[in-house]
Amino acid sequence: MQIILKLKTVIQLYDKQFVPFISAQEIEFAIAKMAAQVEADYADEIPVFIGVLNGSFMVVSDFLKQYKKPCEVSFIKLASYEGTSSTESIKQLIGLNQDLSGRSVIVIEDIVDTGNTLVELKELFKKENVKSFKIATLFFKPDAYKKDIKIDYIGVRIPNKFIVGFGLDYNGLGRNLPEIYQLEV
Ligand code: IMP
Ligand code: MG
Repeated sequence: MQIILKLKTVIQLYDKQFVPFISAQEIEFAIAKMAAQVEADYADEIPVFIGVLNGSFMVVSDFLKQYKKPCEVSFIKLASYEGTSSTESIKQLIGLNQDLSGRSVIVIEDIVDTGNTLVELKELFKKENVKSFKIATLFFKPDAYKKDIKIDYIGVRIPNKFIVGFGLDYNGLGRNLPEIYQLEV
């Protein structure tokens, strides 16, 4: 008889422990699905993808590799998180430096939690005279979401628990993990 012991990987980041939650394969599948949806919706135009730093760098990279039609990409940097909870005040650290008037813009987010960042983004793009403005996010926490801004493309809906990996961090750590880990409670 063969006994297979499956060891649970626990990731320690500072004072907190995280356990495996979403595999690299599931992430890849979710991103491919989003890229295919966007591609179908923007068949005849060249969209501008805007990644929201820091968290979205891995999503944007993998998304673009799956997006086979002509497109442009740019980044802005916002920050609202302190530790493991979202804050109301959002700082714009690197702003838009490209003329987006008349362009179809799709913001690519790593995760939408309370939606405070989306409100800020919407305000920001209102002034840009864009042709259209849509939002794509790899992860979405429906139970934490408090706004009524429509999210156009959603990769994976997740429970209201703190996660790290694939660009997402806990106080700066964990972004380099190729899969998603969840805070162990
Ligand atoms: P929101 O403004 O509350 O929607 O938060 C959005 C930002 O908070 C995201 O872009 C992330 O940077 C960060 N964030 C939200 N939830 C998590 C999480 O579970 N882990 C790590 N960062 C998160
Ligand atoms: Mg983010």
